[in-house]
Amino acid sequence: MKIIHLNENTKNFEKKLLAAVKAIKNGNLVVIPTETVYGISANCFDVSALNKIFLVKNRPYSDPLIVHISRLSQLRNIARYIPWEAKKIIKKFWPGPVSLIFYKNHKLPDIVTSGLNTVCIRMPENEITRKFINLCGVPLAAPSANIFSRVSATDIKHIIKDFKDKKEIEYVIYTGRPKYGVESTIIDCTEYPFKVLRYGALEIEKITKECKIKIVEPKKNLIKKSPGMFKKHYSPIKPTYLTKNLISYIEKLPKNKLRNITFVCKNKTKNIIKKIFKDENISIITYGESFEEITKNLYICLRLAEEINTKTIVVEAVKNVGLGKTIMDRLIKAAENKWV
Ligand code: TXA
Ligand code: MG
Repeated sequence: MKIIHLNENTKNFEKKLLAAVKAIKNGNLVVIPTETVYGISANCFDVSALNKIFLVKNRPYSDPLIVHISRLSQLRNIARYIPWEAKKIIKKFWPGPVSLIFYKNHKLPDIVTSGLNTVCIRMPENEITRKFINLCGVPLAAPSANIFSRVSATDIKHIIKDFKDKKEIEYVIYTGRPKYGVESTIIDCTEYPFKVLRYGALEIEKITKECKIKIVEPKKNLIKKSPGMFKKHYSPIKPTYLTKNLISYIEKLPKNKLRNITFVCKNKTKNIIKKIFKDENISIITYGESFEEITKNLYICLRLAEEINTKTIVVEAVKNVGLGKTIMDRLIKAAENKWV
């Protein structure tokens, strides 16, 4: 696994991508940056390369992949029909962190879509990624770059930790920490009104307001079972719990239990904890204050909490509105809905 470090100021960055383009053309895998999380990519028409994605991630074949495009003209070979309401989303929000589900074109291999007659497509915002797709000359199927059911990767350390021994991955194109830090929003556009399949980096309210279209949200923020949606997902390797009131939880906790836990919470909450429990040695990681900060830091904090020498993780919940729905979706799955 070789790492290609790039950023928007890198001169001649196209040249630096050529070896990785060759890897895709040879049927191997390349970890690509996106504005959401890192992805492990393969040519979406190359069945043997696609098989390698499932192998290295230990991902079940029942979990379909997202196809990443760099130009609208590529839609023709992967989707069958784009409803006009979806064209409004495309016009406003592509390139960007929203994936759309359409009926699939028969040219796309079944392994990409887990045998479904639909396909999930997105156009990433990251310019280097789109340039890379252009150079490859084909859309790239790419799931998040993490071992199946674990926390997604938003830092080079995570990618190396999960995949350092995997020879199927020839290159990592690394452009630093992603802008959003959490996966794309997924909208099913096969029937109108459209349906939210995954809360993500783009708020649903923004889409409905800007496009003046109807998108049905799941009741109580719980997404009905859909392919690739698992109760346990985005999970740290240690038992993880959620709490609505971290301070009162700590107050009730026997002192000798405190040192077994890493707490993940807002900056403000940490300051209060430090004041009230100033004599205790408590392990606390902060994920920021605003929803934008929290989405950006969430996976970094969960990965860090895994590595600290404590037995369990307790995370402070956030309000279930706007981007808070995305944060809570990830946290509920990370904690398998266990509350304290
Ligand atoms: O931000 C993202 O979307 C990242 C970056 C790398 O682009 N990708 C990502 O991929 O999150 P992944 O594999 O971790 O999640 C893709 C999810 C699947 O688990 C499944 O829930 C949904 O997309 N999906 C894909 N195709 C689908 C389909 N035809 N019908 C329903 N859901 C689908
Ligand atoms: Mg994933």
